[in-house]
Amino acid sequence: METLLLDSKTWLLVLTGAGVSAESGVPTFRGLNGLWEGQPVESVASPEGFAKDPLRVWRFYSQRRAGAAEVSPNPGHTALVEWERHLGDRFLLATQNVDGLHRRAGSQRVVEMHGNLFTTRCSNVDCKRAPFPDTTVYPDGTVPGCKDCGSLLRPHIVWFGEYLDPADLERIQGFAQRAVSSGGRLVFLAAGTSGVVYPASGMVDQVRAMGGETWLVNLETTESALRFKHFIQGKSGEVLPKLGRLV
Ligand code: NAD
Ligand code: APR
Ligand code: ZN
Repeated sequence: METLLLDSKTWLLVLTGAGVSAESGVPTFRGLNGLWEGQPVESVASPEGFAKDPLRVWRFYSQRRAGAAEVSPNPGHTALVEWERHLGDRFLLATQNVDGLHRRAGSQRVVEMHGNLFTTRCSNVDCKRAPFPDTTVYPDGTVPGCKDCGSLLRPHIVWFGEYLDPADLERIQGFAQRAVSSGGRLVFLAAGTSGVVYPASGMVDQVRAMGGETWLVNLETTESALRFKHFIQGKSGEVLPKLGRLV
């Protein structure tokens, strides 16, 4: 198997998706046994779906909270922690996962692009109440309300048709720009993602345009795999611990 050199010139930007948590027992979204299979994604992961049936949306996220609370990080998560310890500020982890497993494993330089399953916020955009930590698994048939304004509370998750936090995108872009302007070697590695959800799916092209190296670790070949220079097919929990060559 190829190895990825992680030396003092390397700036490593990692993007993870649901596949990285699969070996911990968290279901993926697409593919065999994916969560979206047989389920119209808009009904649980869009503002329209929430407006139409908030009970169904909270049932879905309460189930995911209960599931994610029971699982533990796997060797793929741990490998990323080791790489971060080695590279320090020349490492950044952007994740599409909302399960919180990267932080639980010990990753610190993490951008949770799609939000966090264990954070809740008010659905009223004019409400002053800030997003807050919330591990509650709401009983079936319950939709929590805001104590400040009475509106419905919602999961702090980026749904389809919603924008990502511009500060998150700036942090990712700023990292890649610093790598290039400092004369470093920019490396982008994506793992466990089907590469179909924008803007995360566009990161590989941006890095290539900046002259960076691109690596993909994924269980299946996807259409997006063609856009990476290096593709290693396999499970992230098996590949990542063997991939990095720390010097
Ligand atoms: P879109 O406009 O619906 O969403 C794009 C934006 O929403 C991106 O910024 C994306 O990052 C963000 N986003 C919102 N909710 C998200 C979530 N739960 N997970 C990840 N990212 C999320 O455009 P699109 O993604 O190109 O989708 C077009 C249409 O296809 C939408 O109606 C969408 O719901 C649907 N879709 C269905 C599936 C499926 O598996 N059934 C997958 C992707 C998209
Ligand atoms: N190791 C590596 N890859 C794996 C593993 C594994 N053990 N198991 C599954 N995979 C791969 C699958 O082959 C698939 O290509 O992980 C990928 C998971 O793809 P998706 O389920 O589409 O997940 P993701 O790319 O994270 O989805 C992006 O879509 O609906 C939204 O909010 C959701 O953040 C998510 C976004
Ligand atoms: Zn409120």
